[in-house]
Amino acid sequence: MGLTELLDVVFRWAHLIAGIMWIGNSMLFNWLDRNLEKGASLPRLSQGKIFMVHSGAFYDVEKKLLEPGEMPATLHWFKWQNFATWATGISLMVVVYYLNGAAFLVDPSVRALTPTVAIAISVGALVVAWLVYDLVWRLLGARMPALAAALSFAALCGAAWGFSQLFSGRAAYIEIGVLIGTVMTGNVWMVIVPSQRELMAATKEGRDQDPSFSIRAKQRSIHNNYLTYPLLFIMLSNHFPSAYGHQLNWLILCVVMLGGAGVRHFMNVRYLGAGAELPRARWLLPAAVAAAVGIGGLVGLTRVSATRVQASGPVGFARAQEIIVKRCASCHAAVPTDDVFKVAPNNVVFDSAAQIQAMAPRILERAVKTSTMPFVNKTQMTEAERAELGAWIAAGARLE
Ligand code: HEC
Repeated sequence: MGLTELLDVVFRWAHLIAGIMWIGNSMLFNWLDRNLEKGASLPRLSQGKIFMVHSGAFYDVEKKLLEPGEMPATLHWFKWQNFATWATGISLMVVVYYLNGAAFLVDPSVRALTPTVAIAISVGALVVAWLVYDLVWRLLGARMPALAAALSFAALCGAAWGFSQLFSGRAAYIEIGVLIGTVMTGNVWMVIVPSQRELMAATKEGRDQDPSFSIRAKQRSIHNNYLTYPLLFIMLSNHFPSAYGHQLNWLILCVVMLGGAGVRHFMNVRYLGAGAELPRARWLLPAAVAAAVGIGGLVGLTRVSATRVQASGPVGFARAQEIIVKRCASCHAAVPTDDVFKVAPNNVVFDSAAQIQAMAPRILERAVKTSTMPFVNKTQMTEAERAELGAWIAAGARLE
């Protein structure tokens, strides 16, 4: 295993662990907030109580503000899970997409950027995204939140479109994921943590917290809550070439993000407090509709096929093999000659006729339908060659 692959596995593993801890925590606190029991008998500074059973005993939890002298010596914060998730995510981005001459980031058949320019755009976009998002919500968040939300979603889709015009499909998806993760991390460190510090200062001084802090922090933590489902889809998206490799990849992503955030919304509003829930029909049904929008959009849009070049006549195996040797074998061989891939990716090898024939359905998917192989079209396969492979497979992928 080479150094890049080693770093890849270490960062990826850590990223997943940190991400589960961060999102898991945030979902648990969200759930707690929505299920607190708020009776009239609560003490003055109490915001609600809740009993839970877990790990062999009962937990008696109360959410409350404190009197000045009550600040405990040990107070647990939940911010490092977020930082670890973001830092390992950025490291993964560097290892997978920026190293190796940005081989995974740039697809010359999308745009022939130099590695330096591509990386500069990728990094710059993250900074600009945070600045724009933060500005929109600082200006409009208090007075016109619906407008701010609409503008933010439009900007996110605009960014998805822009990245799809600049980067390889899978990199465009991941760039949106890193962008969302960066905005969420900005929310934690620039808005939510400062609000918690202000709460601590106010408590020590025995005054009320400046409400502008807490209102903004609440708003941003709701954003983070809605962004989790879309972001988790993006983390998995590299497994789905028919989505990221499609000519409408950016639109597919927008619809899936909308559906994912919609499901999250109805899961949020289902709790009425004190353990009571909306009737199933009032939350499960609309949540299912939101899921259907996301999944339906994914299925429907990936079926839209572009008008493609047609092969001029029947294509025999000899010609199909010739194309595969020329365009695929540099990576997909027992001994690859590619400068980056020293081991056949996914164990897919096209050395023998039987190997090629066995993989025909996947060749159709990756090299004909989605054009996501050759990888970032490194071997410069032509549309005519894709059509010829398609014709060979359509006629039964026979070895003659
Ligand atoms: C520059 C190296 C490279 C070239 C050239 C290349 N591939 Fe790949 N291939 C990869 C990588 C990397 C993966 C794993 C990542 C992925 O699936 O996107 C892969 C995965 C695959 C897979 C397995 C995943 C799946 O979806 O089933 C198939 C099939 C495949 N390639 C077919 C082809 C075909 C057909 C060609 C030629 C038209 C080709 N590849 C050319 C690098 C390459």
